[in-house]
Amino acid sequence: MAPKIVILTGAGISAESGLGTFRDKDGIWTKHRIEDVATPEAFARNPLLVQEFYNARRAQAAEARPNPAHAALAELQRAHPGEVVIVTQNVDGLHEAAGAEVLHMHGALAGALCGACDHRWEAPAAMGAEEPCPACHRPAARPDVVWFGEMPYYMEEILDHLLSADLFVAIGTSGNVYPAAGFVEEARVAGIETLEINLEATEASALFDRTLTGPASEAVPDWVAGLLRG
Ligand code: OAD
Repeated sequence: MAPKIVILTGAGISAESGLGTFRDKDGIWTKHRIEDVATPEAFARNPLLVQEFYNARRAQAAEARPNPAHAALAELQRAHPGEVVIVTQNVDGLHEAAGAEVLHMHGALAGALCGACDHRWEAPAAMGAEEPCPACHRPAARPDVVWFGEMPYYMEEILDHLLSADLFVAIGTSGNVYPAAGFVEEARVAGIETLEINLEATEASALFDRTLTGPASEAVPDWVAGLLRG
């Protein structure tokens, strides 16, 4: 049977599309404090600040276009004879824009979620401090993104895929944020081959069987081309 591949992507895959990463020099977390903009407590304290942070990121993401790394993963998903599951920590829509199917474990900027009734809908371009829910009409709308202290989405499905994979690949992620950072260890323990693709070696590189270094827009298409050639 053709090998099943599970791919985890992080901010590095969208860096060359013009979207900032979090922990690199000039990264998003060098300009904003996580506890001010990316926790449920921050939203309760200052909803406007949090909405404005995500409004700005949503506007930026709307301008961004997929790069050759996103296109290569979409091609892999189409052309590889085995299953290719793409899980992303990114909240941009660039994998879908390239034609891939993806599990957004940290949610998506394109979505809105009602904190009161759990209704989900397409987010407007900008959301206010007291954004109303179209279903229950309470002013409890928030971006449908996962904040620190909240449970990422699709975890059961992702772990099922991971443990039935033949190859786990992490692309453009620093391996700082759990549970995603733990996937490589889970894969290793299960005897699954692991590969890291990153601009440079990371603190997590030693956990992988192999690391390919280079900008995602080059390293990912090269890796995919090699795999599809067989
Ligand atoms: P980070 O900013 O922590 O890491 C980005 C990684 O991308 C680094 O390891 C860089 O070396 C690499 N990188 C940068 N440019 C690249 C390029 N052109 N090609 C390839 N790799 C490149 O971002 P994430 O690991 O995605 O969560 O961060 C994980 C989570 O932390 C995010 O989903 C977000 C953040 O806080 C939440 O907000 C809940």
